[in-house]
Amino acid sequence: MNLKTSTRSAKEPADKSDPPQRTIVLAVTGASGSVLAVEMLRTLEADPRVGRIHLVVSPSALRVLAEETGAGGRHTLVEQLVGARSTKVSLLAHEDIGASIASGSYPVDAMLVLPCSMGTLAGICHGMASNLIERAADVCLKERRRLVLCVRETPLSLIHLQNMLSATQAGATIFPVVPSFYNQPQTVADITKNYVHRILQHIGLPQTGAYEWGAKAPAKSTK
Ligand SMILES: Cc1cc2nc3c(=O)[nH]c(=O)nc-3n(C[C@H](O)[C@H](O)[C@H](O)COP(=O)(O)O)c2cc1C
Repeated sequence: MNLKTSTRSAKEPADKSDPPQRTIVLAVTGASGSVLAVEMLRTLEADPRVGRIHLVVSPSALRVLAEETGAGGRHTLVEQLVGARSTKVSLLAHEDIGASIASGSYPVDAMLVLPCSMGTLAGICHGMASNLIERAADVCLKERRRLVLCVRETPLSLIHLQNMLSATQAGATIFPVVPSFYNQPQTVADITKNYVHRILQHIGLPQTGAYEWGAKAPAKSTK
C-alpha cells in the first residue's frame, strides 16, 4: 500500500450541539494486516464524532508496517499513517505504562487492537499488563469498556483458540481479520474499508456509505 496516495482529509470538528466526542484507543501489534490499521486510523481521523485517538504501536508492528506499507520511523509515523497532519492522534510509547490510558480514571470509549497478534492476545487474556497495549486492554476489561481484538493468524492452534475463548469470557470481542465477499468487493481497498466499517458499526460509529446487506435488490439465484 502506498501511503502517499490517500486523498482523505480531516473533516471539520463536530458541532457544539452534537454528543460528546469519543476517545478511542487504537493499538497496532505485529500481526499481518497493518493496512487495516492505517484505514482505521484515517477513518477515525475523518470522523467528527471522534475527538481523540490514542495510538500505540508495538515494536513488532513497526516492523510489519515497514514490510507491508513502507512506513518507518516513529518521528513522522502519525503523519505517514494518517496521510496528513493530525490534531486528534497522539502516539503513546509502547513501554509507557504511566500514560493516561493505563489508568481506569481516564475515560476511554473503546479500544481496538488492530491487527492483534497471538502474542498480544495471550498477554491480554492472561492479564499480563507488561506493556501499554496489554495494560490499556486490561483496564478496558476491568472497567467493562469495549475492547475489540482483531486477531490474525492462520491456522490457529489450540492455544490461540483457548486464548480467544478466555478473552471473550473476560468481556472482549474477538473480531478476526476475515474478509467478507457477499458485498462483492472488487479491490483490496474495498475489502479493507468494509472490514473497518464493520468494526466501527460494532462500536457505535456507523459510517456513511458502509455496505448494508439487504439495502439493494438481492442477486438472482444461479439455479
Ligand atoms: C511480516 C510479519 C508478519 C507477522 N504476522 C503475524 C500474524 O499474522 N499473526 C501473529 O500472531 N504474529 C505475526 N507475526 C509475529 C509477531 O510480530 C510476533 O509474534 C511479535 O512478537 C508480536 O509482538 P506484539 O504482539 O508485541 O506486536 C508476524 C511477524 C512478521 C515480521
